[in-house]
Amino acid sequence: MDLLIKNGTIVTDSESFIADIAVKDGKIACIGKNLTMEAQKVVDATGKYVLPGAIDVHTHLAMPFGGTVSADGYLSGTRAAACGGVTTVFDYPMQRKGKGILETVEARNQMCAPEACVDYAFHCIITDLNDGTLLDEFQAAIDYGITSFKCFLVYKKEGMMVDDGTLVKVMKKAKEVGAITNLHAENPDIIDMNIEKFKKEGKTSAWYHYLSRPEFVEAEADKRAIHWAKAFDTPLYIVHLACKEGVEAAAAAKKEGYDIFVETCPQYLEFTSEVYKREDGRNFVCSPPIKGQESQDALWEAIKNGTIDVVATDHCPFQSYEKDWGKDDFTKIPNGCAGIENLYPYMLSKANEGKITFNTAVKLCATNPAKIFGCTQKGSLTVGKDADIVIYDPKKEFTISVSNMHSDYDHTIWEGKKLNGYPVQTFVRGELVYDNGNFVGKPGFGKFVKRQPRR
Ligand code: URP
Ligand code: ZN
Ligand code: ZN
Repeated sequence: MDLLIKNGTIVTDSESFIADIAVKDGKIACIGKNLTMEAQKVVDATGKYVLPGAIDVHTHLAMPFGGTVSADGYLSGTRAAACGGVTTVFDYPMQRKGKGILETVEARNQMCAPEACVDYAFHCIITDLNDGTLLDEFQAAIDYGITSFKCFLVYKKEGMMVDDGTLVKVMKKAKEVGAITNLHAENPDIIDMNIEKFKKEGKTSAWYHYLSRPEFVEAEADKRAIHWAKAFDTPLYIVHLACKEGVEAAAAAKKEGYDIFVETCPQYLEFTSEVYKREDGRNFVCSPPIKGQESQDALWEAIKNGTIDVVATDHCPFQSYEKDWGKDDFTKIPNGCAGIENLYPYMLSKANEGKITFNTAVKLCATNPAKIFGCTQKGSLTVGKDADIVIYDPKKEFTISVSNMHSDYDHTIWEGKKLNGYPVQTFVRGELVYDNGNFVGKPGFGKFVKRQPRR
């Protein structure tokens, strides 16, 4: 064997038990008690948890956005991922008017391949159907390994928004080829109306970012999208859902048997809209904005009752000087926050504190993302799957600071947050990439994950 991890508590999405894991050629070869085979490397995980690597299915690396480019590229973003126990990262290449899906994704694959420190996959953002011809390329995207597309119902001036007709065409075609449609749901017209009003009134602080897109602005679009998914019986994955009304609508549709999937993000689970009143409120500006306490409570409840399927980050950091562009005008703040290195430690810390179980954390951050997005080799500690493994010390205390992260950004909304427990080692396909605070992997080691279509 190449690697033998002994005596750890193995955590799956449904059970936890003490056992050993043997790894050969990057795959999990055997799981059992008191394994005695020879191995090149033996890790004693006594007193530690042994978990599947997390899959962060929502990141924007080197993304041109908000008048700049997000602060983490493929190297620093995937390096930070490794150090936070994320072994597969999904990025969002953006198709533009006149361009195809494959050329868009291939260009990003070429950028990512030499830099990726963990495995990676792509969803493709669709911004224009090129008079309908783009739909003919969906099958080729599936053959390439892209089994999810994304639409935005906002970002009109950025040329990223689609109308309902385009969204429905994407959802229908995606279903036909075995893909799923991801959606950023907010109502653009009401946002514009609010922004115009606040600007006229001279209300320009970060607080008005929240007030221009409060709970009901997101809820309307969540409900509209769910309505279309039901009407056309297509699968729908709502990204970064952050409001109570939206989560309730999703729960109802799921109960009726529709294929509606819900993602939320750690920032919505930890902070409330009150952060936008802070002097540094602009650093928390993301869209949809972080909502009020009632929504946060509803999100935790939805995690517990299974309405929320996935927790991912929407990692899209910007440097302080870029956030400062909006000091006196919230519309000039590039939207997005950091999170890729905090996702798993944060959710596991919540498990360690007893707010959720470790099995739920694994389900939300690894097993469900793999199932929903067709990563058949990933997401659980199962014989035959990739040996993407995190060893977690429940006794290690950790305080998040920009100085102990492994990204390229210069500030984090998570500064000073104390976590109970922390990952101590991350393995990608059996290779150690993170060891006790240090990145020990190699750029270019990460491989493109060719995903399987839905059946
Ligand atoms: O504010 C955010 N979320 N920025 C990244 C783009 C998006 O909407 O996901
Ligand atoms: Zn979004
Ligand atoms: Zn996003």
